Amino acid sequence: MCGITGYIGGEAALPILLSSLKKLEYRGYDSAGVALLDGGDILVRKTKGRISVLEEKLASEEKTEAKTEAETEAKTEAETGGKNVFGANAGIGHTRWATHGEPSDVNSHPHTDEADSIAVVHNGIIENYLVLRDWLYERGVSFRSETDTEVIAHLVTYYYQNEPEVNPGTGLGTRNILGAVRRTLSRLQGSYALAIIAAGYRDRIIVARKDSPLIIGLGRGENLVASDIPAILSRTREVLFMEDGELAVLYRDRVDLFNEQGNSVTRPPTHIDWTEEAAEKGGYAHFMLKEIHDQPKALQDTLRPRLRRSGDKPVDIDFDEINFDPRWAKRDRVVIIACGTAWHAAMVGKYAFEELARIGVEADIASEFRYRNPLLAPGDLVIVISQSGETADTLAAMRLAKKNGCHVLALTNVVGSTLSREADTVLYTWAGPEIAVASTKAFTTQLMCLYLLALKLGRIRGCLDEGNFRRCLAALEQIPGQCAELLAKQDVIQRFASRQFNKTKVFFMGRQYDYAVSLENALKLKEISYTHSEAFAAGELKHGPIALVDKTTLVVAAATRVSLFDKVVSNIREVSSRGASTLVITWEGESAFTKTADEVFFIPAPLWEDDKTEAAGQNRFRECFSPILSAVPAQLFAYYCSIQRGNDPDKPRNLAKSVTVE
Ligand code: F6R
Repeated sequence: MCGITGYIGGEAALPILLSSLKKLEYRGYDSAGVALLDGGDILVRKTKGRISVLEEKLASEEKTEAKTEAETEAKTEAETGGKNVFGANAGIGHTRWATHGEPSDVNSHPHTDEADSIAVVHNGIIENYLVLRDWLYERGVSFRSETDTEVIAHLVTYYYQNEPEVNPGTGLGTRNILGAVRRTLSRLQGSYALAIIAAGYRDRIIVARKDSPLIIGLGRGENLVASDIPAILSRTREVLFMEDGELAVLYRDRVDLFNEQGNSVTRPPTHIDWTEEAAEKGGYAHFMLKEIHDQPKALQDTLRPRLRRSGDKPVDIDFDEINFDPRWAKRDRVVIIACGTAWHAAMVGKYAFEELARIGVEADIASEFRYRNPLLAPGDLVIVISQSGETADTLAAMRLAKKNGCHVLALTNVVGSTLSREADTVLYTWAGPEIAVASTKAFTTQLMCLYLLALKLGRIRGCLDEGNFRRCLAALEQIPGQCAELLAKQDVIQRFASRQFNKTKVFFMGRQYDYAVSLENALKLKEISYTHSEAFAAGELKHGPIALVDKTTLVVAAATRVSLFDKVVSNIREVSSRGASTLVITWEGESAFTKTADEVFFIPAPLWEDDKTEAAGQNRFRECFSPILSAVPAQLFAYYCSIQRGNDPDKPRNLAKSVTVE
């Protein structure tokens, strides 16, 4: 997730771009950059770090420029070069959340072609960029950065120079920048929101969108483009929301909009009356709620680039990015280390690795692991999970594993984090920045990555036949859409929270995967609502926890193991008869709990193609992925309880987003 912006009009573009970028900084802050159209030139200024770092660099440039101007008063503009980022009236800008290539000056956007005649800012992921890079190499192009975006600038130049559009009447070719951009887009697989400027075309900005947000702000004598509404609100409240596949050309006094087929489209703008603060959160009241709603996209971004397809069906998992070593599949044991929510992901991973790959997992809390004398052997695979990649205990545990000669595979959300730099190999969750302290989309995308690893290892080890492997991939592919379906029903949870928020004790229980996700569900509630909440394996109920159950208790059961439903029904009866209120999270279409629980929240069940395996008991696999979905209602429940109690869910008391000290 990155933020992009663009301005064309009568005023100096630079301050407008910088102020827009600041409104988009929540989308990423690894680096920032701008490209301005001044005369016939493109002037790029970019740097690693936050927008404030870019501003500082520009301020010192402005000072030097003012001095030089005074010294060369007599010279004409032509003599001094006339290159001025401060006076340009058109430009594009970017704030980066690094995905391909570490945060650095050279990997910062905008990216340009070799002659700096095309500049591009991009939000999204070009999935086939390596293929395109090779194609361009063969044609003599050299690259400066490690990013996926740079191929776009080179492709536009390539098509502009080599494939002029031929006029059918005259048979003559004319160079056409829009045609070159269209040809480029036709080569891209993946997601993008793009803004492109070209040196010979100072009167326009070309923009396009596919699976990444992009809006156009319509001003008076000026037009703007941005990833999100807050970036343009100080200039205009009239907005065109771009649709997937659309392309537009922004001029100072008009906008030409085209659909995927290249036909011109018109539609009235939408008037926005949000406050600027509400707009920054995408109109959501809090970052946490926004991030809960980001999950369908975050899951999609994490999954899709890693699925290899035949036709429209996923047939394999592509792990080239981590130099997936098939020797890992020879090991019967994996260690997974993490803290907090990430450790709960490790607990789900334990069940997944055991079930799908028949590999034993030790899911270890980093602060425990680092002070034990753990049994590690050279070559052991140690997976270290951390959203931030900066948690002190997790880093210490990783270093201990490395010291013992283990191979450390990091699972993190932050490119360039300490964990990503020190691990032997890195698998990224492409969730985009997580701002709210309580982790939501990082957790579900961590699960997605762990399932992919477990499935890949399981296939190599022969624990999954081709049919079940492909069914599992198809089931995973349904999850982003199912998550969106769930979120559309959030009012059910909101109403439930408004009745239950003042319970003094909330217990979360489940068996196997449902136990692992209950650990996370209990943590979410306690950290933002300050309600005492605990999780336990449902089978443990009678071994202690039931002593605490009374009328002030709510019990939330996750129940997605169909073969264990009877046991959960008994557990629900046991707590209900002692006065507890109950909520069950289970599969859509299941009626097992409707008579016993006070409330049932349904999660969508996977469509399981060609399911002839039920008799053989193999349909257990279809239940494996439930934690990604059953975490979502619990996140919403925690959020709404926090609101009902008058708390700020984004900034819970005593907690910090990243625990960088012990
Ligand atoms: C809970 C939460 C924390 C973190 C934990 C580890 O919502 O966010 O429990 O999961 O501090 O943080 P990372 O994943 O950054 O190592």
